[in-house]
Amino acid sequence: MKITREELIKKYINFFKNHNHQEIPNASLIPQNDPTVLFTTAGMHPLVPYLLGQPHPLGKRLVNVQQCLRTGDINEVGDNVHLTFFEMLGNWSLGDYFKKEAIELSYEFLTKILKLSPKKLAITCFKGDKNAPKDTEAANLWEKAGISKSRIFFLDKTENWWGPAGNTGPCGPDTEMFYWVGKGKPSKDINHSSWIEIWNDVFMQYVKDEKGRYKSAKQKNVDTGMGVERTIVALSGVKTIYDTYLFKPIIKEIEKISKKSYQKNTREFRIIADHIRSAVFIISDGVRPSNLGQGYVLRRLIRRAVRYAKLLGIKKPFTDRIAEIVIETYRKSYTELSKNKDIIFTALRNEESRFNQTLEKGLKEFKKISSKTKKISGKQAFLLYQSYGFPVEMTTELAKEKGIKVDLKGFEKENKKHQCLSREATQGTFKSGLADNSNMTKKLHTATHLLNAALKAVLKDKKIKQRGSNITSERLRFDFNFPRKLTDEEKRKIEDWVNDKIKRKLKIIKEEMPLNQALKSKAEAEFGAKYPSKVFVYTILDEKGKPISKEICTGPHASNTSELGKFKIKKEQSSAAGIRRIKAVLE
Ligand code: ALA
Repeated sequence: MKITREELIKKYINFFKNHNHQEIPNASLIPQNDPTVLFTTAGMHPLVPYLLGQPHPLGKRLVNVQQCLRTGDINEVGDNVHLTFFEMLGNWSLGDYFKKEAIELSYEFLTKILKLSPKKLAITCFKGDKNAPKDTEAANLWEKAGISKSRIFFLDKTENWWGPAGNTGPCGPDTEMFYWVGKGKPSKDINHSSWIEIWNDVFMQYVKDEKGRYKSAKQKNVDTGMGVERTIVALSGVKTIYDTYLFKPIIKEIEKISKKSYQKNTREFRIIADHIRSAVFIISDGVRPSNLGQGYVLRRLIRRAVRYAKLLGIKKPFTDRIAEIVIETYRKSYTELSKNKDIIFTALRNEESRFNQTLEKGLKEFKKISSKTKKISGKQAFLLYQSYGFPVEMTTELAKEKGIKVDLKGFEKENKKHQCLSREATQGTFKSGLADNSNMTKKLHTATHLLNAALKAVLKDKKIKQRGSNITSERLRFDFNFPRKLTDEEKRKIEDWVNDKIKRKLKIIKEEMPLNQALKSKAEAEFGAKYPSKVFVYTILDEKGKPISKEICTGPHASNTSELGKFKIKKEQSSAAGIRRIKAVLE
């Protein structure tokens, strides 16, 4: 079956809708109000509060397609199936159906709707260990559905267990679905590269506590993830992601630009294609290359692509030519890409040319350093970083190619000394997933709503809207449209306005309603944000019961402003053209 991504997504969403699932929006790649992750790495991220037990306004059965970014797999990029940016189809049961129905639905969708041959399917299940038993229940269900026993493999925790995303929380065994894309009879070895994993059903039946114990979960969830690009591979009769219509035009363009052949330089081509594709989506979601957080990941992706382009002998700027193809491929589904075209091109071109200015010299310096040592010191790695713009991951990669090491601890020390960026902070937030629902986050969240209202009141500008928000357990960050810097007096007045509301011990109420009704009731929505058809509205009421703030929001929030403490603005600065950014704390 030849299929486009739009057709596959439609089939999936419709299938689950027909089984009483409600569609939820494709959230931004940049998680809002989740300080534990830099990027959305799976469809479950925006659902964390609901997986932990908060009722979802749309019910217990959900479905969507979610754009995801995973930098943990960056070194795998270049093989047949790994990507940093990909789209994930997902269906969820929030304490509703469990293994039986999840497996039956998966099997039906694969074999009846997509018409994939059951003879080319293989399944992996959890093998069991001291904390949890072998998942024979899942295996039996697969067998009953129609998978032959010889095609069901039991693997250990590293393969068939998911979560918790942080140190504690919901987790459980998973079962993965593989499709044979090779020639001839499918191999008996599930590790054969022609077996590609296309879907994962996670059964969240345990909660891991602080002592590392696995307890039976009160709410048993199903969390699934099907890779759009990989499923297209399975359906198109090709072997790799790069042979699909999603990547072929990019590969062709790189051949044109480099005048080299894809066959002889496969890995380089794939890395360039993957990284620039990811960069396009990240930039479109508002990130710019920088030395911190998401901006640093973006910088690494672009610079790594530029270095691989150099290996192919590409001398002229090329990133925008690839971006153009990516934007065209996803034009219909992600309309913001075309709207942000100029921004995307400019960000790519600037970063590319900035790095090109130092790359050659940096490589020379690297050669000099590496010819004299078996281990690059922290100071040397820092020199490459600061003077030649080499992300330390790139230095590590270059060193590995030469069989030498890098003193990463030494690099961190140097880096801290120069107070440039906190790599530790960046790394710490790569993988984990569960939102920090701590008390402080909750209070800062409510303070954000008060700040939003205070800005309109003090600056006497009703057009002010939220343009982004990020909360860690230490501070809030709030972006809003306003044409100029705030004066000291304005900042003081905003603080006073918020602190006055805190002192007055005002109540915060939560209501659930359809999106239309919420918008009609003048509940504020974030500019450009996507919402489901049913939402929560949080209102802060004054003493007379009149709302002083009303916003559509997933929460959670404090129940009374008196819980908040003292509000203080720490910084007010420009974030982008026409956008200001405030960082504030509760003392
Ligand atoms: N959350 C699961 C995954 O990422 C479905 O594979």
